[in-house]
Amino acid sequence: MLREDHVTVLTGATGFVGSLVLERLLARGEPVAALVRAADDAEARRRLEDLAERTWGDRTVVADVEAVAADVERDRLGLDAGSYDALAARAAAVVHCAASIRFDLSLDEAHAINVDGSERMVAFAERARELGAAARFVHVSTAYVHGRASGLARETGPVAAPAFRNTYEQTKHRAEAVVARLEGAAIVRPSIVVGDSRSGWTSSFNVVYPPLRALVSGVLEVVPAPAEAILDLVPVDHVVDVVCGLLDQPRLAGVVQAVSGDAAPTMEQFARLAYAHAGRPMTECVPSAADQIGVYAPYVDVHARFEFARAAELGVTPVAIEQLVPLLLDHADAAAWGRRTVLRPSPLQAAPAV
Ligand SMILES: NC(=O)c1ccc[n+]([C@@H]2O[C@H](COP(=O)([O-])OP(=O)(O)OC[C@H]3O[C@@H](n4cnc5c(N)ncnc54)[C@H](OP(=O)(O)O)[C@@H]3O)[C@@H](O)[C@H]2O)c1
Repeated sequence: MLREDHVTVLTGATGFVGSLVLERLLARGEPVAALVRAADDAEARRRLEDLAERTWGDRTVVADVEAVAADVERDRLGLDAGSYDALAARAAAVVHCAASIRFDLSLDEAHAINVDGSERMVAFAERARELGAAARFVHVSTAYVHGRASGLARETGPVAAPAFRNTYEQTKHRAEAVVARLEGAAIVRPSIVVGDSRSGWTSSFNVVYPPLRALVSGVLEVVPAPAEAILDLVPVDHVVDVVCGLLDQPRLAGVVQAVSGDAAPTMEQFARLAYAHAGRPMTECVPSAADQIGVYAPYVDVHARFEFARAAELGVTPVAIEQLVPLLLDHADAAAWGRRTVLRPSPLQAAPAV
């Protein structure tokens, strides 16, 4: 039985993926408590309102969201014992999106947020269950826990510890082991998250965007990648579909890869589409040019195809790359590659009447 004052506890709401999970939860009319890094709850609320202003152009979108100042790197999430238990007792679900997605942190730094932070959210869910709350747990991981694997990277894998490209992959892999200890936990593994499948909208111009921009603007004179390498991109709304699908099916546990699978293009196919959209001729694929794209270089040399199976059961269909690339580039232009704000429609317009 859900308590009347139950909430979905969400981390990472100020980030790219978490903000769109929040958007969907609000559109569904679900009560949310967002754990936000801040000195106090008032500052947490201001941070959520700032997010609402730059995302939906309306600070009141988050008026009903409980803003809780919390830090997954601190004991008890930085809450006092009473507030911690009071929130835990109401947690119908926990969606853990918070992480550091930097590729250049030391192992200790990445571990502190990605592994220890996940451990604390699992402990929070355990406490919630002790207090009688359902605490469905959905953890956002990454398909790159497969590291430098090649061939088919399955939802049931990796079976042995992979070779990792960086501390991000290594610590997200360890975090999965922590989360898997929680009975019934679900783990979502997105590949490279890009803009919305319908509008191309993104607030996060990292990973694939800097090389893409350099390519279509002519700054890069060649494609800095092996022609046959695989580039698996997943639109952010498909990640949200999987997260919310898992909230709706509390008995579905284990890993769901939010990826493109067989629909993922090779680097050559991707570059051709990008150049065609920019009205430029295709250039050569030159793997040795990858050093021109810095920390992103390892992600243009991927030889794994991520298994796409369980997300299909949740109703997700990968979008054709021929449709996606023009949408991503048009939005990137409209948003001046992150320098200009492009608003999304308010989720409250679609909220069910109560
Ligand atoms: N973006 C991708 O391409 C991609 C691909 C695969 C998987 N993922 C996964 O998706 C999840 C979300 O990634 P994202 O792209 O949305 O990242 P993001 O935009 O950088 O957002 C990260 C979020 O985590 C929060 N956070 C960081 N440290 C925290 C702490 N100590 N306590 C509480 N909150 C903290 C950040 O809060 P502040 O605002 O306070 O910094 C922010 O809200 C991550 O688990 C990531 O591994 C992302």
